[in-house]
Amino acid sequence: MSENLWRSHVRDLDPYIPGQAAEEAKKQEKVTDIIRLATNENQLGPSPKAIEAMVKAIQEAHFYPDLTCLELRIKLGELHGVDPENYVVANGADNIINLAIASYVNPGDEVVYCTPTFSEYHKNTLLMGGVPVEIPTTKDHKFDLKAMLEAITEKTKVVIVCNPNNPTGTIVDEEDLRAFFSRLPKHVVAVLDEAYGEFITQENYPTGVEYIKEGLPVITIRTFSKLYGLAGMRVGYAMASQELIQPLQRVREPFACNRVAHAGAVGALEDTEHKHKTLAENKREMEKLVKEFRSLGYEVEASHTNFLFVDMKKETGSIAEELASRGLIIRPCAAWGYPTYARISIGTASQNDKLVKALQEINAKAPHHI
Ligand SMILES: Cc1ncc(COP(=O)(O)O)c(C=O)c1O
Repeated sequence: MSENLWRSHVRDLDPYIPGQAAEEAKKQEKVTDIIRLATNENQLGPSPKAIEAMVKAIQEAHFYPDLTCLELRIKLGELHGVDPENYVVANGADNIINLAIASYVNPGDEVVYCTPTFSEYHKNTLLMGGVPVEIPTTKDHKFDLKAMLEAITEKTKVVIVCNPNNPTGTIVDEEDLRAFFSRLPKHVVAVLDEAYGEFITQENYPTGVEYIKEGLPVITIRTFSKLYGLAGMRVGYAMASQELIQPLQRVREPFACNRVAHAGAVGALEDTEHKHKTLAENKREMEKLVKEFRSLGYEVEASHTNFLFVDMKKETGSIAEELASRGLIIRPCAAWGYPTYARISIGTASQNDKLVKALQEINAKAPHHI
């Protein structure tokens, strides 16, 4: 009965399907040692500097946080060379996606992006009464910028490019992206989700920071959940010109980033050593896993993130269940329409070794037909 009282756009929403949480897996599988490779977290944990700052900040938990996260915005300004006024910090990139869409999408407006991609674009578009326009990615699993441009109508308000894309790990060609941004009609706002932007391995590949400095009309999204290992704290930010960022600042709830999270993010930016260590380990372990997966008969493409999009050549739901019974959690991709694929986060060396060993055993029981 009460569902009838819901706002009609809320009735359109499906519940979020998360990667299986470690806590849930522990209960279900009765294993104590859980290795979670389903949600692209940093397995090295937060930087010691971030931890120290958070421990200190918790003593002041009775005070509201700084309203606009000034200290973090100043640090981000130093990092990117884009002024502190050009950021909005909030409760994770999820929150930022919500702010961007809530700022620009009226009921009936179209939001264009490719699929498979991060599910929050779809959800927040529906929530605002917008119309998701979903374009398939290219054969090599990249955002199809040409098809996106062709899909733009006078009703289009927002286009979203997830780069690198989740779950495929791919990046678009630099020239194509620049041309895409410069060809957008004036009534369209571009959102560039770079949650994994720091992991891009292609040299001299420009990111949203460069596009904003060049004056292109782009709202860039970043997070502290991936590279900086603060997924549990929830800090994300948007960066854009004054003109584009203003509505997000108005829509944002006043204390959208809590005091401890803010301190952790500031501390994390001060620790470049931890950042470099994370990137180096990710690269090394990813290369190792790609080799191992190929020798298991899986197909796997280069990824510019901290996860791999793996075609295991058979339905991955059952493989994920077998792995879960051994305490290893991966993300099957059937919900994205890719039943033989899984998204597997890069773990530490010993976690990855355990994963490969388990897959070898599972494979030996039921070999793939390649
Ligand atoms: C592409 C993409 N954007 C945004 C997010 C949300 O990140 P956050 O943890 O900062 O909310 C994720 C998280 O997995 C993601 O994959």
